[in-house]
Amino acid sequence: MRRKIIAGNWKMNTTKEEAQILTSEVVNIINDEVNNDALVVLCTPFVHLSTVKSLLPSGKRFFIGAQNCSQHDAGAYTGEVSAAMLKSFGVDFVIIGHSERREYFKEDHQMLAQKVDQVLKNGMEVIFCCGEVLDERESGKQNEVVATQLKESLFHLSAEEFAKVVIAYEPVWAIGTGKTASSEQAQEMQAYIRSLVAEKYGSQVADDTTIQYGGSMKPGNAQELLAQPDVDGGLIGGASLKSRDFAEIVKGY
Ligand code: PGA
Repeated sequence: MRRKIIAGNWKMNTTKEEAQILTSEVVNIINDEVNNDALVVLCTPFVHLSTVKSLLPSGKRFFIGAQNCSQHDAGAYTGEVSAAMLKSFGVDFVIIGHSERREYFKEDHQMLAQKVDQVLKNGMEVIFCCGEVLDERESGKQNEVVATQLKESLFHLSAEEFAKVVIAYEPVWAIGTGKTASSEQAQEMQAYIRSLVAEKYGSQVADDTTIQYGGSMKPGNAQELLAQPDVDGGLIGGASLKSRDFAEIVKGY
């Protein structure tokens, strides 16, 4: 069954104390005010995973996520964090292929495929980001770009493995810019992504796949985006750092 998932990507923000306050506020507001069945995933910096997890009520609403992991099992990779380590902290989801990782840390298709494998091999779920940059959109290449990202880093998986992958469509020109894709643009791309999944894995798997939209999603535009038939949730950056805004997005689902 297709799940609705709202994930907050905190990026490199929050001290320990700020993380505790933000988590407690998010949990309280959502518990008090939200009535729907959307899952909520908090993707925190590595150093806060344990703290934040300890503040999340157990059950079927709240989950903890990391923002990256190493492509290697273990060893002499100073500063890196393995998927096995994340699993041992009770992490549920790992974001792989965020455009900031692709751009600033030069993560390519092949490395991302290895990271996807690490997450799945360690029994966690992947939130796989894809999306085109502005030039690519303006030259009409967005479908081609996204298709390549999926084919090169995900389509080696078996259908059973693919069931543990959430896709986040994040047009890079809409991330942190205040510029949101229109609900038509989001719907059009996300329907296309679902058609690619159907071609590769069949219509049942495609129908069950959660496809999030990400890029300047906020309370003012979330409802319209989330109302699109192929938008099954959101990956929220800036607005996930404000408990009220984040909770409003979950609430408006
Ligand atoms: P934004 O970030 O909501 O601040 O645009 C989204 C993301 O990068 O995941």
